[in-house]
Amino acid sequence: MASRSKGAGKRKPIVPGPTYEEMLHPRKVQAQLRRRADAARADELDPLNLYNIHWRNRRGQVRKIVLPSELTGVKANVVVMIGRDFPSGSHKVGPAYSTLVEGEVNGEIRPGEKTVLGPSTGNFGIGTAYVSKLKGYRCVVIMPDSMSKERYERIRKYGGKLDLTPGTESDVILTLERTHELKKNPKNYPLAQFELLPNYRFHRYVTGQSALEAVKGVGNGKVAAFASAPGSAGTLAAGDEIKSVYPGCAVAAVEPRQCATLYENARGQHRIEGIGDKMVTLIHNLLTTDYVVLVHDDDCVMGMKVVTDGVAVLKKKLGVPASAARAMSGLFGISGICNVLGAIKMARHLDLGPKDNVVTIATDGIDRYHSVIEDLNQRTGTIDEHAVDDRLLERWARQVFLGADTEEILDVRPTRQKNRLFRQKEEVWSQFGYGKDLLQAMKKQDFWDAEYRQIPEMDREIAAIRN
Ligand SMILES: Cc1ncc(COP(=O)(O)O)c(C=O)c1O
Repeated sequence: MASRSKGAGKRKPIVPGPTYEEMLHPRKVQAQLRRRADAARADELDPLNLYNIHWRNRRGQVRKIVLPSELTGVKANVVVMIGRDFPSGSHKVGPAYSTLVEGEVNGEIRPGEKTVLGPSTGNFGIGTAYVSKLKGYRCVVIMPDSMSKERYERIRKYGGKLDLTPGTESDVILTLERTHELKKNPKNYPLAQFELLPNYRFHRYVTGQSALEAVKGVGNGKVAAFASAPGSAGTLAAGDEIKSVYPGCAVAAVEPRQCATLYENARGQHRIEGIGDKMVTLIHNLLTTDYVVLVHDDDCVMGMKVVTDGVAVLKKKLGVPASAARAMSGLFGISGICNVLGAIKMARHLDLGPKDNVVTIATDGIDRYHSVIEDLNQRTGTIDEHAVDDRLLERWARQVFLGADTEEILDVRPTRQKNRLFRQKEEVWSQFGYGKDLLQAMKKQDFWDAEYRQIPEMDREIAAIRN
């Protein structure tokens, strides 16, 4: 770790925020500060909201929903951790904050000194703009030019500037190239989510431990499978933590069928914003990914419409309990539905029973997809909310959720598959100057465990610089 005293004295003080431990256990923050941070939710631009970067509700419980079996059609419990209540509206603010604060700890950046860059398909960019605003940095978000308009609005609202690259979700590699170009200017400081390990640390420790807690009191209280669709593959790191407690847990990476990069080195355009980024990311620990599951992108958009607008249909036609149907509405973005479909497919594939739990994630909520729903309405002609809509919603609910099958699930545990994925990773990252030694080291679990073990020292440093 670089010295945090670099240039100390003349530099602006940092705006304080939590340690990793405090993001996992927000009640470990000193009581008065905790009360002030809770109250700060009323004004999202109050910097005390940095202390609200965690998975918990006010009662200290991990925010989750256990999906009704009337919707999933499987016996296992599909436990979804809810990301939309993080400040800025998605859990991606966690990796953004962690990467920035580690830069501060390392003495590489102080408020006002540099422009923070956020390469992203949206949510990481929103998180970066948000954290930069609260911590007093200028920010430029580098992202494709065809993502949902709500994303750009949110970034601008937080004072972030946009540097748009052509294309949609799976052209995100262009954002990476642009970031590497801008990085040559020493005034820029990239929070390179695809390659920097604070993303891994945040999700392995904070998301992974929170997942272990989320299943307490559900089924047998253990985790049989964890499903997550990678963008940066940060969230997948939670699987490493879950496996350290339940080694038999199956970890599944979910991908759009239209962009089956991990599945078969394919690339293509798709509609699931935030995932399917056309590459194996540097921070993806391929050793702990057991399966790759393909999901159709339009199923995710239709599924999002069903849970958002189909409360009555789910109740009347599928027999979903009213409270569950109401609770689900608003909780899911497109990738959240993708994750749920991946979880259902894994539960079927593994033939899991009523005591078994499959954990997955809803990264963000509906607030950034109204324009996508509007587009779906236009595409399918479901413009009014009457009988035709209800029939269509019922058909979609049955087709998308109850119809999620066990096709297109690839077991990537065999060495042949691991080697293919390692090769794919090398092809991307050697282009960006990463040497053989690092890429070789990443083929051993020790590398990842050593990165993870840095957390206590990092926490001491975070505590030291904020005092
Ligand atoms: C909506 C959405 N879902 C899923 C993901 C993927 O998460 P991760 O980058 O941790 O793999 C992202 C990442 O930006 C996202 O924005």
